[in-house]
Parts: sequence; structure tokens; C-alpha cells
Amino acid sequence: MTDSESSHRFDSITASELRERGGLKWGTHDPDVLPAWVAEMDFSISPPVRDALRDCAERSITGYPYPEAELDMAEAASEFQSAEYGWTVDPTAIRPVPDVVEGIRRAVMELTPPGSPVVLHTPVYYPFFTMVDRAGRDQIRVPAKVESGGRATLDLDGLERAFAGTAAGFVLCNPWNPTGRSFARVELIAVADLAHRHGVRVIADEIHGPLVYPGGIHTPFGSLDHPAAQTAVTVTAASKMWNLPGLKCAQVICNDPDDLMPWDAAFPDFVVGVATPGLLATTAAYRDRSGWRDEVLAYLGTNRTRLGDMVGEMMPDIGYHPTEGTYLAWLDFSPRGLDRPAEYLLKEAGVALSEGEVFGTPGHARLNFATPTPILEEIVTRIAKALP
Ligand SMILES: Cc1ncc(COP(=O)(O)O)c(C=O)c1O
Repeated sequence: MTDSESSHRFDSITASELRERGGLKWGTHDPDVLPAWVAEMDFSISPPVRDALRDCAERSITGYPYPEAELDMAEAASEFQSAEYGWTVDPTAIRPVPDVVEGIRRAVMELTPPGSPVVLHTPVYYPFFTMVDRAGRDQIRVPAKVESGGRATLDLDGLERAFAGTAAGFVLCNPWNPTGRSFARVELIAVADLAHRHGVRVIADEIHGPLVYPGGIHTPFGSLDHPAAQTAVTVTAASKMWNLPGLKCAQVICNDPDDLMPWDAAFPDFVVGVATPGLLATTAAYRDRSGWRDEVLAYLGTNRTRLGDMVGEMMPDIGYHPTEGTYLAWLDFSPRGLDRPAEYLLKEAGVALSEGEVFGTPGHARLNFATPTPILEEIVTRIAKALP
């Protein structure tokens, strides 16, 4: 398939077709609103994933999850880590969980000392906040530093202060939703040094790892050659890259074999909660050699450039550091005096963004650009016209 054929394939879905398909992203607002909020992609799923789901339906593979499917999924996840990142992961160290946030919550509850606070770097994917509450823990939020070009970085001094107390777990979001940063190895090593010095366990959410754009590279925290990586817990899924979050299948990778016994004792088969079609679709996704992922990444890369160009031309004062991983753009509307830009733009532009305040940073909004380019262009045009 040529580049123009594949972009035509992604461009050809219209807003009315998407609205008709429904779902959370397109079904929540009035029909005149263009949604760019929840992190779902508007594109059709990859052919191997579709075949796996069709196979489930045609052969009625809809019973309880079974060991062979779990092991096959773990092997596929391990092959992916090895092929993509050169990280050797023993498939028997991978546990299925229904979703990433629940995997992190379980890791906090079972693999960090009872009652110890959990450190989060903000702004961050906001369900982390309620996840820590549901784990019955206190949270220590360490706000990011923002460089003059709008690039967010971890505040290492702030992290050190947080780690020096009773905190025993740090949830690292890599790549970082909502800022779109993909941490460089040197940044991860700085975190690892601090975590090791203070005996803090790193729980790395790497759900957006497969979505790092060419030119960048995703480094799994657990792959570092560092003592802090020996106790790392990685929570990931094929669900962002392959657009499968409704299928309820994520993975927890425990680097320390000593973690597996308590994990299995706390989460025996009947509480794992993963879905059988999710296991089979995830296995197909991690083994997808159809070229679909490359096409989607190329298309998203074009959207990212178009977005950056349009922001630069139409609203140059709005802060935007180009997304490195994820299909999310983190826009700073504070130069226009807006504390709650998503609320304003829903009303005035008919565009649904995610409010920065809920991630921990007022004045910002998160824009999902995994949509056909014509729709993205309409979204950005509406925003630029409506801004005060
Ligand atoms: C960083 C991050 N973690 C987790 C999730 C949600 O994953 P799940 O539905 O598997 O909990 C998202 C969804 O956007 C996310 O961006």
C-alpha cells in the first residue's frame, strides 16, 4: 500500500460515520461538538486483531480465560519487548490484569509496604489520583518543571524530597500522558538513582510505549541496567497502540521473581478479571506484522506536524512542545487568561478537549489528534477562532 493510499484509508472516515459508530468519545456530547478528549483512536483496528476477534465470535471462544491463552499472550508480550526494545522478559514473569490502572493499583497494594504513601509526578493521567485513593494510600504530588520552550521535565529535587520520607512507591508515566514526553534514558537513570538511594519501588506505566514517533525511542524503565530496575514493576498493554481498551487485557511485568508468589496469592485466577477476547486480541496485536502500526504511526506523525504548524500559524502564543510519544497534545492556554480552557472551548468552539486542571495543571488542555486530518484541521480552526 502506498503512503497516499494508507492516508486515504485513515482520512476517509467522516465525522458523521464516527458519530454513528458511537462509543465514549463520539457519543458523549451534542452532535455539533467535535471530540478530541478521551484517549481513543478513530481509525479502524488492525487486520490481525480483527481476525482474532472474528475468530472468537465464529468459534464462540467467549468462555472464561484459560491458561493457554494467558501464556500465549505473555509470550507475545515478551516477544514484543524483546523485538522493540531489546529487553528480555521471562514470559512467566508476566501477569494479566484487566487494565493498566488496576494493575498499578494492585502493585501499589501488594508490592509496596502497607500504609506507605505513593509519589506521582504531575500533571499526570488523572485516574492515578483516584487509583491511589482506592489503594487506601496517601499521595505525594511532585509538579513538573517546565522549560522555556514548554518542554516538561521531572523535578528531580522535588522527587528526592518526596522519596526521602516514608514514600515507598513511585508511579512513573512513560511516555508521559498528558505532556507527550517520552523520557530519555538519562532522565530514567536519574530517577533510578534517586529511587535506589531511598528504597523506592518504581511502578512504570508504559501503555503509550509503542506510540513513540520515529526519531525518538521508548526505553522501558525495567530494561535499565540499574539496581532500581531489579525491583521495577512495569504495567503495560497493547490497548493504546492497537485501540483495544474495551477488551480488558493489560500486563504486569515483575522484574523481581520474589514478587510473583505474593502476587499470585493476592490475585488467584478467579480475581484476575482479564477478558478472553482481550487475551486473544492482545496476542494478535503484539504479533501484528501487517504494517498497520507503521501506517498509523506515520499518519499520527503527519497529524502531529499539521497540529504544530497550525498552532504556530493561528495561535502562536499557545504553548505546545511537540508530542514525542502518545497521540496527545498538551496545550498551554494560559496566555489567553483561561483557567479552564476545555470548559470554555466546549461552549465557544464546539470542541471537547480534556481539562488540564484535572491532570493537575490549570490553564492547559489536552487534545487527542488520533483522528482523520480533516477533522483535526476543523478542531484547530474552531479553537483558534473561538479563543478570547
Ligand atoms: C498513561 C495511561 N495509563 C493508563 C491508561 C488507561 O489504561 P487502562 O484503561 O488499561 O487502565 C491511559 C489511558 O488513556 C493512560 O493514558
